[in-house]
Amino acid sequence: MTTPRGRFITFEGIDGAGKSSQIAAAVERLRAAGREVVQTREPGGTPLGERLRELLLHEPMHLETEAILMFAARREHLAVVIEPALARGAWVVSDRFTDATYAYQVGGRGLAEPRFDTLEQWVHGGLQPDLTLLFDLDPTEAARRLAGTGQAPDRFEREQVDFFARVRDAYLRRADAAGGRVRVLDAARPIEALRAAVLAEVDAL
Ligand code: TYD
Repeated sequence: MTTPRGRFITFEGIDGAGKSSQIAAAVERLRAAGREVVQTREPGGTPLGERLRELLLHEPMHLETEAILMFAARREHLAVVIEPALARGAWVVSDRFTDATYAYQVGGRGLAEPRFDTLEQWVHGGLQPDLTLLFDLDPTEAARRLAGTGQAPDRFEREQVDFFARVRDAYLRRADAAGGRVRVLDAARPIEALRAAVLAEVDAL
């Protein structure tokens, strides 16, 4: 008998859109339903990936270097964590995946789209998440929320509102092109209403 493959769920959105607490709620829901859940994040998710994350979040670099390192961390993440988990029937919940590279590196930084396509094809060919929840929020509101956390901003969080406006537009374009995989959630709603929307999507899957 072969074990059925697990499901792959990703959470996306601009910095400050409020993914974190909602990811915890989704994971809790799946575990309560008896699923084995692997909760992870990008860039990161493996010891090597977490070291690359440190560089990516704090070290200035060329935009193509940034994109290649994002995909290098992802290659490792897929090989060591995501693929084995899905193969044994576990559900994988990741805070960000390749849609973030499209949004931040192509949309935000201006990476040429063919470069992105090549890297995506190389690193994960046909594999895409089964479900992506995109937290959509006005960048000015997101900046306001980030400022309220009092934490020191990283290299991305220090970007201006116009950068995040481009990231948001790229996310929405990618969602449009994804043919139903990406659900756009209005993240301006009260936290409880947003949570209900997240759990409804998870339950449906
Ligand atoms: P994030 O996941 O928001 O973590 P935290 O909530 O701890 O700040 O931070 C990761 C940052 O990396 C975020 O600003 C988006 C950026 N990023 C990219 O630019 N490209 C990518 O492919 C990924 C996965 C993340």
